[in-house]
Amino acid sequence: MQWSKLIALALIAPSVNALLRFSCSQLVVERLDPLVAPGVSPSSHLHQIIGGNSFNASMDPANDIPGESTCTTCTFTEDFSNYWTAVLFFRARNGTFHRVPQRANQGFEQANGGMTVYYTPSYTGGSVTAFSPGFRMLVGNPMFRSEAEASQFRQLTFTCLDTLGTRTGETMDMPTRPCQEGIMANIRFPTCWDGVNLDSADHQSHVAYPQSGTFESGGPCPSTHPVPIPQLFYEVIWDTRQFNDQNEWPEDGSQPFVWSYGDPTGYGTHGDYVFGWQGDALQKAMDSNCNIYCPELGSQDINQANQCTMQPTVQEDISGWLDELPGGMPVTS
Ligand SMILES: *[C@@H]1O[C@H](CO)[C@@H](O)[C@H](O)[C@H]1NC(C)=O
Ligand SMILES: *[C@@H]1O[C@H](CO)[C@@H](O)[C@H](O)[C@H]1NC(C)=O
Repeated sequence: MQWSKLIALALIAPSVNALLRFSCSQLVVERLDPLVAPGVSPSSHLHQIIGGNSFNASMDPANDIPGESTCTTCTFTEDFSNYWTAVLFFRARNGTFHRVPQRANQGFEQANGGMTVYYTPSYTGGSVTAFSPGFRMLVGNPMFRSEAEASQFRQLTFTCLDTLGTRTGETMDMPTRPCQEGIMANIRFPTCWDGVNLDSADHQSHVAYPQSGTFESGGPCPSTHPVPIPQLFYEVIWDTRQFNDQNEWPEDGSQPFVWSYGDPTGYGTHGDYVFGWQGDALQKAMDSNCNIYCPELGSQDINQANQCTMQPTVQEDISGWLDELPGGMPVTS
């Protein structure tokens, strides 16, 4: 093959380096769930939320999310999407619960908690269709407590961080030993879309995983969901350092962390997404294969992103040692 052709291919084929990776600081931590329980306040379990400050209990799909937000906790200033997950708690021997804080990822040290968000167009070449206004989805199921159930979702995993840079040894259940630098929750969403519906009753059936193989291996989308979409991926680092003394762990040798939806196993891990990018900014970023530094997009300093915060609208004390999980959520295994 001629060099000129090779170079042309290199320019159009997104590579691993082409992913969009950025920090979003914490926006608010509260018991709201506008996707599963729109308008319900408080919702059943506690969430930690990042992104645009138009987040609220209802998030009607007709809302102009970028237009109604005045700031975002994300690095790219066209991104007013909201991204959220459940919250991790430590359960002490005396049965009380303490919220586990989040910590910043490598390279984003100034961030006030939050998460790292990735949008990856493809590892093998080929273009993707960015999400449209009104699009939302969730992945995972908070009711699941077994590996058999959880295996219908690909790559919802945990990494036991021996160092902040540990990226191997992902497990589907919670790490069973103390993790020196924390526990990273990895949430990868499906990458194929039905091309029609911005949402669905279960907030899942309008998207699907590749029919065979994986997104990473370039597996094809099923005919029911033929449109490749970017792979949305969250990394959330739970700062377990103050809870790593095994003398305070359960005497039966089990691990002490439980999720705000009452899950001590980790198999119920899940993530939620409400698209809120301005105009075609996300599509432009996907098409241009920009990386962490994306000149096609506006960006702000992480210190500025930290200043975008919201007061919780649900009034409840979630600090210190709690007799029960917020909302009285029972722990079930
Ligand atoms: C959420 O925000 C939208 C847009 O600003 C507003 O119309 C709606 O009433 C708000 N809902 C709640 C529950 O605050
Ligand atoms: C429960 O255990 C925690 C952790 O050891 C301790 O800080 C807290 O004071 C205890 N609470 C009660 C009511 O004993």
